[in-house]
Amino acid sequence: LNNGLALTPPMGFMTWQRYRCTIDCEDFPDECISDKLIRKIADAMVDGGYLRAGYEYLVIDDCWLEKERNNLGYLQEDRSRFPHGMVSLIEYVHSKGLKFGIYENYGNKTCAGYPGIIDNVKRDINMFAEWGIDYIKVDGCYYNGYNYQKGYEDVKTRLNLTGRPIVYSCSYPAYEDELSYPTDFETLAENCNLWRNFEDIDDSWGSVTGILDYFALKQEHIAKYAGPGHWNDPDMLLIGNYGLSYDQSKVQMALWAILAAPLLMSTDLTAIRPEHKEILLNPAIIKVNQDPLGIQGLRVFRNKGIEVWTRKVMPTAGDEYSYAVAVYSRRTDGMRVLFSIPLQRIGLNNPRGYVIQDLYGLEDWAGVYLPTSNLTVRVNPTGVVFVKATALS
Ligand code: DGJ
Repeated sequence: LNNGLALTPPMGFMTWQRYRCTIDCEDFPDECISDKLIRKIADAMVDGGYLRAGYEYLVIDDCWLEKERNNLGYLQEDRSRFPHGMVSLIEYVHSKGLKFGIYENYGNKTCAGYPGIIDNVKRDINMFAEWGIDYIKVDGCYYNGYNYQKGYEDVKTRLNLTGRPIVYSCSYPAYEDELSYPTDFETLAENCNLWRNFEDIDDSWGSVTGILDYFALKQEHIAKYAGPGHWNDPDMLLIGNYGLSYDQSKVQMALWAILAAPLLMSTDLTAIRPEHKEILLNPAIIKVNQDPLGIQGLRVFRNKGIEVWTRKVMPTAGDEYSYAVAVYSRRTDGMRVLFSIPLQRIGLNNPRGYVIQDLYGLEDWAGVYLPTSNLTVRVNPTGVVFVKATALS
């Protein structure tokens, strides 16, 4: 979407993966979707250095609404959980230097059963803009029509008419995919700043690998639609939660950087372990993710549970691309696999060669690597080696 926003993949926090639809604040006072939670997250994003690292959007997902509209027909936040009102909360988030994202649904109800916007697009979008939102995720549950694209275009038009810069995240491709309806990606990239392609992530390695398989399988069709202002979205980062090991967490961060994916954390930032925090804040990896060219990476090799993914990134000098290269292992047979591949086999053909930097700071890669040189790594089970190969000129 050519609205001047999301020129690199949006970075921030989204409540869904970690907090889901927790609305019982009596039993779960620190986890329920509430004013208190959002303020706590805002504080943690700033105090923990996440904002400084680039994570600027704080997006509240489903379950912030009252079950019914008010008698004038307006949406209203749940008053017991948001006693100061949304406007006050958004002001607070802004006062911290963060941007605020909201969730709604193009359909009669949100997935969790709260009122949707389908019959009130103008009224609702105008109200959100007055509230001062900077980002909207529009979900696609309970939509009985057959033309999602048209509906999301109406929302786009309304957003545009507000005159407020608002990042527009669309979920309809994921719903179309589920219905085997072919998404028109060209139009999609004009309609939305980012879009969900596939199923919801959940807190497991199987979910991460399933999403990566999907992106690899579809890469010829979808990767070309990523670029400044319009991104494929493989869903939130799980890092810091329960389901991924340390190595698996590194895989997700590396591959989401390769995919030019939005980086939307979703974990308890006040209790995160230092090693997980370090992954999320890794400046060299964030730099790959935020590369200004915005070229989505591809899986370029796979054999016996080892995959190589590469992403073209901005050259430092000259006109040969530099590359981010992730070698990731699906193997669980216990061995640290020794793996070797010539650079030219994975598309690194610069005749003057490359210098290599380990993005997790593990190995020292001395010397110059020519296209005929081997990239030789040892990969942990369900782990990753992630390097940047900078083209020499
Ligand atoms: C489905 C979406 O894909 C999820 O990310 C989340 O927004 C839930 N709906 C909320 O109900």
